[in-house]
Amino acid sequence: SVPTITLNDGTTIPQLGFGTWQVSNDEAEKAVSSALQAGYRHIDTAAIYGNEEGVGRAIASSGISRDELFVTTKLWNDAHEPEDARKAIETSLEKLGLDHVDLYLIHWPAPVKYGDAYVKAWNALQEFKSEGLTRSIGVSNFQPEHLDHLEGETPVVDQVEMHPTFNQAELRAELAKRSITPEAWSPLGQSKDLQDATITKIADELGVTPAQAIIRWHLQIGNIVIPKSVTPARIEQNLASANVELTDAQVQAINGVDADNRLGGHPDTADF
Ligand code: A2P
Repeated sequence: SVPTITLNDGTTIPQLGFGTWQVSNDEAEKAVSSALQAGYRHIDTAAIYGNEEGVGRAIASSGISRDELFVTTKLWNDAHEPEDARKAIETSLEKLGLDHVDLYLIHWPAPVKYGDAYVKAWNALQEFKSEGLTRSIGVSNFQPEHLDHLEGETPVVDQVEMHPTFNQAELRAELAKRSITPEAWSPLGQSKDLQDATITKIADELGVTPAQAIIRWHLQIGNIVIPKSVTPARIEQNLASANVELTDAQVQAINGVDADNRLGGHPDTADF
């Protein structure tokens, strides 16, 4: 079964969830329905993904009670001003068909385009939490210097790009010092890390798939992990990673795969 992590605000999160980046609104209902049927109880979406309605339809038709589900969505960069942020969370909740989410994240600090507006957004998120619109609040794609600018509560998570060829060891150490749980987006390296020779060797040793070896590595190093797939067999296979077990030597070997292979935007320079 899927382990849970207790976040720094005392709430718990299923450590393995279902990611929906690059899943269209039409595909989302099907994919999330498959995921919920397979046993996932943690779904990650974002306003910018354009699929919150599809995600919401899948949740509504699942019949799963709200308190068994953990739903995350994210504030887009153009809505960091507090009034815009409030409209954004209200719109997300309406599209999802929920009266609250479990986790609401600032999607990017976006300093190039919007300066330090993310600091105001963080204050707004603290209000949303106190009003019950979200149970927990966190950030995504933040570097330590962005975290340094925040006031008040500590984010519960920092959701960043992390996979074997980009393992973010330094950032993870920094987050550990601050009691912020690391959460991995593109945990499989958008499928590119599945071909790595160390990964395929370890997968063969264990009799599991490369995706399962990677997902299990994330779990054992303490990451929250949200693999994305629109393929039902893979959706099930990825969830079953929870039952795999890597030896310490195998974890260390995957730690050694790092190649500074960033696939997505850099938090300091991404200007969207
Ligand atoms: P698909 O959605 O077509 O099934 P990441 O989560 O790192 O962004 O990776 C997502 C990519 O990895 C998608 O292209 C997805 O394909 C693919 N993928 C997800 N799970 C598996 C798996 N178990 N085996 C092979 N490819 C997978």
